[in-house]
Amino acid sequence: MRAVQLAAGLAAASAPLVAAAPEHYPVLQSRANESLAYSPPHYPSPWMNPTAVGWEAAYAKARELVSQMTLLEKVNLTTGTGWQSDQCVGNTGSVPRLGIKSLCLQDSPLGTRFADYASAFSSGQTIAASWDRGLIYQRAHGIGAEQKAKGISVMLGPVAGPIGRAPTGGRNWEGFSPDPYLTGVAAAESIKGIQDAGVIATLKHYIANEQEHFRQAGEARGYNYTIDESSSSNIDDKTMHELYLWPFADGVRAGVGSIMCSYQQINNSYGCQNSATLNGLLKGELGFQGFTVSDWAAQHAGVSSALAGLDMTMPGDSAFNTGVSFWGGNLTLAVLNGTVPEYRIDDMAMRIVSALFLVGIGADVQEANFDSWTKSTYGPKHYYAKDGQQQINYHVDVQGNHGDEIRNAAAKSTVILKNNGILPLNKPRFLAVIGQDAGPNPRGPNGCPDRGCNDGTLAMSWGSGTAEFPYLVTPAEALQYQALQDKSRIESIFDNYAWSQIRTLVSQQYAHSLVFVNANSGEGYINVDGNEGDRKNLTLWGSGDDLIKNVSSVCNQTIVVIHSVGPVLLTDWYDNPNVSAIVWAGEPGQESGRSIVDVLYGRAQPGRTPFTWAAKREDYGADVLYEPNNGEGAPQQDFTEGVLIDYRYLDAKNIEPIYEFGHGLSWTTFEYSNLVVEKVSDAAYTPTTGQTAAAPTFGEKPSPDLSQYTFPNSTIRYIYNFVYPYLNTSSSGQAASGASDYGQTADEFLPPHALDSTPQPLHAAGPALNQQPGGNAQLWDVLYRVSATITNTGKVEGDEIPQLYVSLGGPGEPVRVLRGFDRLSVAPGQSVQFCAELTRRDVSNWDVVSQNWVITEHAKTVYVGSSSRKLPLSAPLK
Ligand SMILES: *[C@@H]1O[C@H](CO)[C@@H](O)[C@H](O)[C@H]1NC(C)=O
Ligand SMILES: *[C@@H]1O[C@H](CO)[C@@H](O)[C@H](O)[C@H]1NC(C)=O
Ligand SMILES: *[C@@H]1O[C@H](CO)[C@@H](O)[C@H](O)[C@H]1NC(C)=O
Ligand SMILES: *[C@@H]1O[C@H](CO)[C@@H](O)[C@H](O)[C@H]1NC(C)=O
Ligand SMILES: *[C@@H]1O[C@H](CO)[C@@H](O)[C@H](O)[C@H]1NC(C)=O
Ligand SMILES: *[C@@H]1O[C@H](CO)[C@@H](O)[C@H](O)[C@H]1NC(C)=O
Ligand SMILES: *[C@@H]1O[C@H](CO)[C@@H](O)[C@H](O)[C@H]1NC(C)=O
Ligand SMILES: *[C@@H]1O[C@H](CO)[C@@H](O)[C@H](O)[C@H]1NC(C)=O
Ligand SMILES: *[C@@H]1O[C@H](CO)[C@@H](O)[C@H](O)[C@H]1NC(C)=O
Ligand SMILES: *[C@@H]1O[C@H](CO)[C@@H](O)[C@H](O)[C@H]1NC(C)=O
Repeated sequence: MRAVQLAAGLAAASAPLVAAAPEHYPVLQSRANESLAYSPPHYPSPWMNPTAVGWEAAYAKARELVSQMTLLEKVNLTTGTGWQSDQCVGNTGSVPRLGIKSLCLQDSPLGTRFADYASAFSSGQTIAASWDRGLIYQRAHGIGAEQKAKGISVMLGPVAGPIGRAPTGGRNWEGFSPDPYLTGVAAAESIKGIQDAGVIATLKHYIANEQEHFRQAGEARGYNYTIDESSSSNIDDKTMHELYLWPFADGVRAGVGSIMCSYQQINNSYGCQNSATLNGLLKGELGFQGFTVSDWAAQHAGVSSALAGLDMTMPGDSAFNTGVSFWGGNLTLAVLNGTVPEYRIDDMAMRIVSALFLVGIGADVQEANFDSWTKSTYGPKHYYAKDGQQQINYHVDVQGNHGDEIRNAAAKSTVILKNNGILPLNKPRFLAVIGQDAGPNPRGPNGCPDRGCNDGTLAMSWGSGTAEFPYLVTPAEALQYQALQDKSRIESIFDNYAWSQIRTLVSQQYAHSLVFVNANSGEGYINVDGNEGDRKNLTLWGSGDDLIKNVSSVCNQTIVVIHSVGPVLLTDWYDNPNVSAIVWAGEPGQESGRSIVDVLYGRAQPGRTPFTWAAKREDYGADVLYEPNNGEGAPQQDFTEGVLIDYRYLDAKNIEPIYEFGHGLSWTTFEYSNLVVEKVSDAAYTPTTGQTAAAPTFGEKPSPDLSQYTFPNSTIRYIYNFVYPYLNTSSSGQAASGASDYGQTADEFLPPHALDSTPQPLHAAGPALNQQPGGNAQLWDVLYRVSATITNTGKVEGDEIPQLYVSLGGPGEPVRVLRGFDRLSVAPGQSVQFCAELTRRDVSNWDVVSQNWVITEHAKTVYVGSSSRKLPLSAPLK
């Protein structure tokens, strides 16, 4: 299926964002309708804390460097040079005087986008199915190390949003799991892996970016939806804390250097200028010390976004390839004319430079040794301007032994949903390999730009979250290699619609039919087969259901392998006795074939499903909003299901899933016994009190003489369409900004307290001054230690993935929530201990009145078992 590709960069140039002003300053929201959800203002924007644990040394070094910088140099760090102006998907300005090169920001969460001789790892959702902290860390470290070796400073991953509210959400595969605990653990391990490799991680997309439809009004107009504003995710405070913000808190605690704000609005205020989410939740309550960066063209205003907590704008031009920026010269001017306080630009620079020191880059920024826009060895350094012919691709091979790691991890992330004993395969006489999803894309593994099609085996989905395959081992190739060793007969048919040939093959004596099917989705700027990013439906593509039904009607040894971006409906055929096994392989990356063979032949230990397989689409409770519902205004997406997504919804409504969250078979059997709950601490929780210091400034006060900020023709050469920090002219106001409608936009209005530099109260649920970012340190106090014995009662070694759930009790609460897991290898006959710790946060709920976490009075229970519905052990938490 060919993709209909929309022009990149359809992002709307900003529409004025201001409703009627209550007083002389308007609210900085697009809320034109008083009955719509509203995001309360939160100012001033918090400045860094010199004593935040983990960041002290980075802060001190950054202070030294930033104190030497001029206003123009600081602005340069905050502003991208423009779409395709430099070699990466985003590049900042540089500080040549201090030897600091342009920072390269590059996709993606699963590899190095647009680079050659780099690896294509599994999707985030796939690695989540390993439930293995070590494998999650190793994958991220591998990606980070490759990016480092390509000269990248800021990696645009991992993903904790979308979390997967709607199973059809287009980018769920980039993230981990609709469970916030699992996603939080995976995000933290990934951040540590990436940053240990010496690259700044970017946790994205902050926040509530749960679907592709309407995320950008301009993109939606390209699909003929007549809307003027991007959609709004309307979320209540409790749901925000307990579900969507939860994994971001883990990321902040893990020391993430950067967080990307999202395209869509939250309560009708754009993600990159929402002071409640950026200033309030992220920098205030969580005490985030790194920098925020806009999603590409997600910035909608200059001053407003600066005051609301945005620290870096990408790719720098407000609409792609315009050379016009909300920041650059406009930010310089905004500081000089006093609408953005000096401490705010200093804080932006401090956050960026501190993150560089935190991961060990410091001032020694490397340049990219590859180019995102052409594979040619020589070409223009500044692609859009076609300027600066030189070597731009050095074709550095950064793969190391990652191929073997990818194979191993993807195999251990493969989930056996059903097995009547046919697996593991053992020298089968005859293998019939059926389905387009088993073979290659005839146009090559990278035949569709940004993987925007669904031809051949699905090993990676489409959009910016992609990488080029250095090679792609298809299932058919690896199966054939295995068959040759075993002297098995093997025949493959890749045409899903060749039923007459397939029938002839699979109805033969001894046939083991391996039917490969898939379901794909991706990012909203590409439409594949009418799927505008988000999936239209939850069924298999390419008539996969008919194919399975047909094959299993004539073959009683049918094994179904699914490559997909999340659940598909198995309802019609999963319990057919001729469907002997069902295996979910996610999106395994470049080693797809070798990993699936490792599982099918029993050499690898499988994982567990990180989402629910429901019988009907409605069973999930939440869905994508497919049609605008607010006239031409922002489509309103009310998250009315609250925290009840995925298994929590089915549990609450007593709906039987086909395969529950956490389910997965193994090669052996396990028994659970001897649950022990030990109370470790009952220390009272002390809300954080106290104040920050006053906002500091660094270095010399900028001169008010505007002539000092014009383009320095004598020292640098102007590059066409580049975004610079310089003023247009030395005259003030409109001319200096270069705006034709100066004074007509929202930018010059100041919200209350936006310029306040006095000490600010610390958030009661936030870290104290000498604590680690992420939240009040006591939220991580261990209150209970839980252990259980797991015995391998089978005949072979196996990995068990024990899961711990807690029922927090109380009306409307989920029946139970995941709060612990491990992956343990157990020899036959052997018993091992599963141990987990429950922190204060794990047993608390968000209290909207006190604006803090509280342990409610309701009776609480802890459960341990092998899935969200197989929980043989339980005990009260007292
Ligand atoms: C405001 O929004 C509500 C809910 O979408 C709608 O019913 C109403 O017509 C809107 N009012 C105006 C003035 O647009
Ligand atoms: C959004 O509005 C809801 C309902 O008023 C409120 O509970 C929540 O705190 C708001 N969140 C943000 C980020 O504005
Ligand atoms: C800003 O960055 C650009 C692009 O890297 C560079 O040419 C220019 O010299 C920098 N300006 C300052 C003041 O450092
Ligand atoms: C949008 O509508 C125009 C005019 O009817 C049509 O030509 C175009 O194909 C449509 N685009 C999409 C993406 O449906
Ligand atoms: C669901 O979408 C896929 C991909 O576009 C398509 O192949 C399939 O036919 C659709 N299923 C149904 C039942 O319409
Ligand atoms: C399934 O079998 C029917 C005939 O029984 C045939 O018409 C149909 O095309 C087949 N579909 C697939 C996908 O194999
Ligand atoms: C499958 O069908 C064949 C032929 O009818 C039969 O001999 C065999 O026992 C069946 N196998 C299973 C596993 O049911
Ligand atoms: C400096 O360069 C800019 C951009 O090319 C040009 O518009 C301007 O006239 C030049 N100024 C001087 C004084 O040469
Ligand atoms: C500053 O912003 C205005 C509109 O907000 C724009 O017209 C102008 O081109 C911008 N200036 C620069 C140097 O990008
Ligand atoms: C200051 O400069 C910024 C950036 O050009 C502009 O948006 C804002 O309106 C100006 N404010 C005043 C008071 O001149």
